[in-house]
Amino acid sequence: MYVGIYFRVFLSLLPLWVVDANQCPEGAITVNPKRLTVKYGNSVEVNCSSSVPHDGMGWESAVGKTGIQEDVQLVTWTVEALTDWDVTALCFINRLEEYEGQCMTDLTVIVYKDIEHAPVLSSNHTGPMIEGTTYHFKCAIYNVAPVRYLTVTWYRGNVPIGRRALANSSDKASPVNVTDTLWITPTRHDDGAQFRCEAELNLGEGGPQPPPPKMTSQDVNITVHYGPVTNNCPDSIQVSEGEELAKFCSYEGNPHPTVTWQRNGLPIDPSRPLSREDVGVYTVTVTGLMRLEKTILVHVMYGPVFDCPNSYTVEEYKSHNLSCEVEGYPTPDMLWFKDGEEVALPDKLSRGYGGQYFILANSSYGNASHLLEIKVLYPPSRITELEDREVDLVGSEVVLKCSSYGDPRPQYRWSYHRVKNVRVNNEDGVSLLHIHGATGENIGTYTCFAFNNLGEESKSVRVTVKGVQAPCPIEFSIDGKQLNETVVEYSKNVSVKCKVSTKAQATLQWLVSHKHITTGDTWTERALTDWDVKPNCTATFEGRDPCHQLFNVTLFKSPEVLSIRYQNHSQPVIVDGNNYILVCEILNIAPVKNLVVNWYKEIKSNEKNSSSMVYEEQFSENTNKRPQNVSSTILINANKSENGVQYWCEATLRLGPHGPQEVKSPALTVHVHYAPSIMQPNVSVVPVFNDYKEVLVCEADGNPKPEITWIFNNQSSKGRDLTISIEMVGSIICNASNKYGIALKTIKLVPKEDYLPLIAGFVAVVVVIISVIFVFIYSIYYTNTKMGHYSLKDAKPNTQKGDVAQNGLDSSLPMKKLSQQNIYVMGMTP
Ligand SMILES: *[C@@H]1O[C@H](CO)[C@@H](O)[C@H](O)[C@H]1NC(C)=O
Ligand SMILES: *[C@@H]1O[C@H](CO)[C@@H](O)[C@H](O)[C@H]1NC(C)=O
Ligand SMILES: *[C@@H]1O[C@H](CO)[C@@H](O)[C@H](O)[C@H]1NC(C)=O
Ligand SMILES: *[C@@H]1O[C@H](CO)[C@@H](O)[C@H](O)[C@H]1NC(C)=O
Ligand SMILES: *[C@@H]1O[C@H](CO)[C@@H](O)[C@H](O)[C@H]1NC(C)=O
Ligand SMILES: *[C@@H]1O[C@H](CO)[C@@H](O)[C@H](O)[C@H]1NC(C)=O
Ligand SMILES: *[C@@H]1O[C@H](CO)[C@@H](O)[C@H](O)[C@H]1NC(C)=O
Ligand SMILES: *[C@@H]1O[C@H](CO)[C@@H](O)[C@H](O)[C@H]1NC(C)=O
Ligand SMILES: *[C@@H]1O[C@H](CO)[C@@H](O)[C@H](O)[C@H]1NC(C)=O
Ligand SMILES: *[C@@H]1O[C@H](CO)[C@@H](O)[C@H](O)[C@H]1NC(C)=O
Ligand SMILES: *[C@@H]1O[C@H](CO)[C@@H](O)[C@H](O)[C@H]1NC(C)=O
Ligand SMILES: *[C@@H]1O[C@H](CO)[C@@H](O)[C@H](O)[C@H]1NC(C)=O
Repeated sequence: MYVGIYFRVFLSLLPLWVVDANQCPEGAITVNPKRLTVKYGNSVEVNCSSSVPHDGMGWESAVGKTGIQEDVQLVTWTVEALTDWDVTALCFINRLEEYEGQCMTDLTVIVYKDIEHAPVLSSNHTGPMIEGTTYHFKCAIYNVAPVRYLTVTWYRGNVPIGRRALANSSDKASPVNVTDTLWITPTRHDDGAQFRCEAELNLGEGGPQPPPPKMTSQDVNITVHYGPVTNNCPDSIQVSEGEELAKFCSYEGNPHPTVTWQRNGLPIDPSRPLSREDVGVYTVTVTGLMRLEKTILVHVMYGPVFDCPNSYTVEEYKSHNLSCEVEGYPTPDMLWFKDGEEVALPDKLSRGYGGQYFILANSSYGNASHLLEIKVLYPPSRITELEDREVDLVGSEVVLKCSSYGDPRPQYRWSYHRVKNVRVNNEDGVSLLHIHGATGENIGTYTCFAFNNLGEESKSVRVTVKGVQAPCPIEFSIDGKQLNETVVEYSKNVSVKCKVSTKAQATLQWLVSHKHITTGDTWTERALTDWDVKPNCTATFEGRDPCHQLFNVTLFKSPEVLSIRYQNHSQPVIVDGNNYILVCEILNIAPVKNLVVNWYKEIKSNEKNSSSMVYEEQFSENTNKRPQNVSSTILINANKSENGVQYWCEATLRLGPHGPQEVKSPALTVHVHYAPSIMQPNVSVVPVFNDYKEVLVCEADGNPKPEITWIFNNQSSKGRDLTISIEMVGSIICNASNKYGIALKTIKLVPKEDYLPLIAGFVAVVVVIISVIFVFIYSIYYTNTKMGHYSLKDAKPNTQKGDVAQNGLDSSLPMKKLSQQNIYVMGMTP
């Protein structure tokens, strides 16, 4: 507290007090009081008594000595006014003989005087003191006696801070001037303090009562200058945002210091709240007892403050540029948590990193947290669950399920053969394809595409229906008319359009020959000359297998020459009973497969002409498509019924309505010559009645026409009619002959009773009536219909016209094939 207070006393020397060595024995003399303190100038009276016999006694002193007094046991030393500062006195006895010499006792006399003047306090410095510097005060006390009993007490305020007895400063008993020095090194606390010194004489026991008064110096106030000092102005400070600089660097001092703040040479207001931008180096200038300048690095603490979005979207495996930072001073730590676990984000995020993050930032200054939603977009995942499907039963329900994951959620698209019974349902991120009642049309490939804006994934599966094939919905048309096939004349044009009958989209392509491929739906040929042309239209579909359909083109060529002739024979005549072959020749026709040759024959008679097809030959087994020469033959049996018959053949390419017309050959008339045969009468016995005459008619068939002669009773009659009578009973013969032979018929004429002619007549009348009716009806009918020349004969044997026998039973022509219907019955049986 009080730094260095030293006392030094300068004392003037006092004369030495000399004490005789001849001390009296104990109790021999008594001086009372033994010690005397006397104020300078006062009176003194001291008794000295002896208790032993002596030879005289007395006081020895410079003043007031008594001389030797005998026979007294008491002597008194008396001084009226003691003014001798160094006075001494002693009482002595001259001892009896048995003792040697005198013995004595000295009296201690102290002469003093009150301190008359207040001490004078002075300093060797004027003006304010500087803290820490040593100064001294001097306390000067004048005219003090005896100085060795002087005590100087120093006070600061009322507190004694030092006390010094000046006993050693001087032995001198007379008054002296004396000085005591106080060294002080003042502190700031001493500023304004009062110092003083106090002087007193401490005469001790036996001193005057009351003791002599103390004397006090004047007060000296001191001013202590110090500073500037501070205890809150470090080289580097950290403050929170909003705090002020003013609370730092508050300097103390005397005189009171002023503090100014500067930044970049410009003064600033330190009471302004700080923000994070205020970080930097500041200069503090302090002006007080001294001028100080100090540079201070100021850190403004704040945060943690997030600079981070609330949500972030990135594509999977792409470098992300997520900027999520935290600011603050001191630099905060950042911890990322996902689902309660600490995580670190890699540069490229996989889908597993999507989700909510809790980000914690802490610094010694504070904590903050942030929620961040990271969305990782990724393309659709592989499609699972979609598998090939074989449907066991036609009509079954089929559901194909397509599902995939992705962000954004995938959308679905199906590629398949569009048919009415297929419906697609997208729900809950899954796509379902329903086939209601599976049929062959549903056979095909079903491809599901799952896509989002990052990619596409697809899977194809096949749907098959057991035991069923997918139909091929290809149709053809020519000039807008739907057709399956067409016929084209050789080297003519053709143009066929291929199309798909369903609504399905298809790509069409024609494959006409190995090298001739037409993309597009129409195949056009300006001059079709390829006999083997097989136009093949292939449709390629979405979702189902390609299918193809051949368009049947029949390239044809009409026959060039069509002729009919005998094979190995020539007209005019054919001997009866032989077979002959007729040949129909067709040149340069194609396709033979479609060729049909029809043979016709026409029978001409006076009444009617009747023609009929007698044979049809097909060549369907001939698959050669190129033009060929072909022939058709028929076998005719040259019997008499063929005589005069016309044969012709017709060649037809059966190619439907668009095919060519039939081609007809010229007709060939067959001439058959044959031996006669008798047709009438056909009975061997003819009755003859009396009085009746009848005509017998002999009719014979033969070519050339036979000559007829009746022979009877050695007579002969030319001509066919012979009148018979009863006289001619017996045998008659009809003879028919031409160059090929003779035919004979013998008839017996037998006589008969009358009723027989009656019956016969009646029957004949009935027959005639019926015949008339018949003829009447027929004639009406005939005139209306103009049909062939049928003649209605009597029931009776009749003559025949022409040279052709009218034998209806003659039916079988010697042909390869001839059906019953093709035979005309010529004439009537009776
Ligand atoms: C000394 O002695 C005388 C006579 O006995 C007496 O009267 C006197 O008071 C004494 N003085 C002192 C100071 O004792
Ligand atoms: C005052 O005294 C002190 C101590 O003795 C000394 O150091 C100082 O220089 C003195 N000052 C003056 C102004 O004399
Ligand atoms: C005074 O002086 C004597 C001898 O001269 C010495 O022994 C003593 O310590 C001194 N006292 C003081 C207080 O200086
Ligand atoms: C003491 O000081 C006073 C005044 O300065 C002077 O008059 C006196 O003579 C001095 N006394 C001695 C013994 O020096
Ligand atoms: C010293 O200080 C006291 C109080 O501390 C005051 O009353 C007094 O006037 C001052 N004296 C001087 C000389 O300044
Ligand atoms: C991040 O990158 C995307 C494109 O890659 C860009 O559009 C976006 O502006 C970027 N964001 C930042 C913060 O750089
Ligand atoms: C943040 O907190 C963690 C644990 O609580 C601690 O280890 C770390 O030192 C802190 N960081 C800062 C900058 O205070
Ligand atoms: C920051 O968080 C930690 C742990 O939760 C806590 O111990 C600390 O007191 C917090 N600090 C502040 C400044 O809130
Ligand atoms: C096509 O041919 C098929 C049989 O081959 C037949 O059922 C269908 O009716 C034909 N269509 C046309 C337009 O001729
Ligand atoms: C084409 O002809 C062949 C036989 O010649 C036949 O099998 C096929 O069905 C025909 N195609 C069409 C479409 O009529
Ligand atoms: C074929 O040619 C004829 C005449 O040259 C023409 O009228 C007809 O339209 C053509 N047909 C096709 C299918 O090109
Ligand atoms: C028709 O074309 C398809 C392919 O386009 C082929 O598979 C098929 O064999 C062809 N058919 C014929 C008869 O050429």
